[in-house]
Amino acid sequence: MASSIAAEYAIETRGLSKSFGSHNAVDGIDLRVPRGSVFGFLGPNGSGKTSTIRMLLGLSNISAGEVYLLGHRMPDDLDLALPRVGALVEGPAFYPFISGRRNLIRFDSANKSADPKTRDERVDRALARVGLTAAAKKKVHAYSLGMKQRLAIANALLQPRELLVLDEPTNGLDPQGTREIRNLVRTLASEGITFFISSHLLVEIEQICTHLAVMSQGRLVEQGSLEELSKSETLVLTLRTVQKQGAIKVLRDLKIKAKAHQSEIVAVVPRGLIEPEEIVRKLTRAKVGIKSFSLLAPTLEERFVSLTGEGFDVAR
Ligand SMILES: Nc1ncnc2c1ncn2[C@@H]1O[C@H](COP(=O)(O)OP(=O)(O)O)[C@@H](O)[C@H]1O
Ligand SMILES: [Mg+2]
Repeated sequence: MASSIAAEYAIETRGLSKSFGSHNAVDGIDLRVPRGSVFGFLGPNGSGKTSTIRMLLGLSNISAGEVYLLGHRMPDDLDLALPRVGALVEGPAFYPFISGRRNLIRFDSANKSADPKTRDERVDRALARVGLTAAAKKKVHAYSLGMKQRLAIANALLQPRELLVLDEPTNGLDPQGTREIRNLVRTLASEGITFFISSHLLVEIEQICTHLAVMSQGRLVEQGSLEELSKSETLVLTLRTVQKQGAIKVLRDLKIKAKAHQSEIVAVVPRGLIEPEEIVRKLTRAKVGIKSFSLLAPTLEERFVSLTGEGFDVAR
């Protein structure tokens, strides 16, 4: 059997599973991460993201299924794939009382294939790429959490990489730190690096992603480009009015099941059932005053809540 396939995908899995005893933490997932994408791997805590990532990187055994990383079968061809992949999983342990720069020198020295003659240059370039040149000589214990995350990414960038895998890189960061990581990902992605980034918070990564996958209880419940995912079969109608009962009756006559929800009336309407103008006309004719009206595709957040039964704003 061929050990690698044409690498259209930076990551491809087939029926990938991980069980801990009788518990299926990852349950037969088929991931397809296109090259050049910024791929958001979303799901509530405990949905199987880290377990998946550890198998992708050969950090834990695969219970069932297949993993191809840059076209190489894992873990058999780990030595071919891993040098081209940078990863941030559970953060590297930095020495707090030496500088960020010295820390990277130590990590680089531990890599036997890294040429010592070009070490300083390599480390300085990595620090510059993550915006830590000015703080390079500061001790790591004086770094903010965001700076530590950037140092960890610099560490992953000591060698040229085609793919960076980041497990919850914004977890625990303040809004400023989160913005720094997002900007860094944008810059590196524009240089052609593929990103696979996990998060339990949609809002923290949706702005930078080109593709998303959603995990729920070990299963992959959604996957695709943002464009594909925003094509929804249903629309959400939201109406503000004082005449709630009258409005609900008009909508019912239009075969739209509506509910009063605090100060609004909300309904799910199949796409193409009726034009918004027609709804407004019928409401006006029935003398329902309209304070505001919208008929929109659900937001990604609304979609994911319906897919996972959970919001992404759960406690960190
Ligand atoms: N080493 C382990 N031993 C037993 N169960 C584990 C282990 N690691 C993870 N799990 C379980 O697997 C499930 C998925 O965990 P994890 O992959 O860490 O999820 P996430 O990263 O999405 O929060 C959880 O139910 C977790 O308790
Ligand atoms: Mg995790």
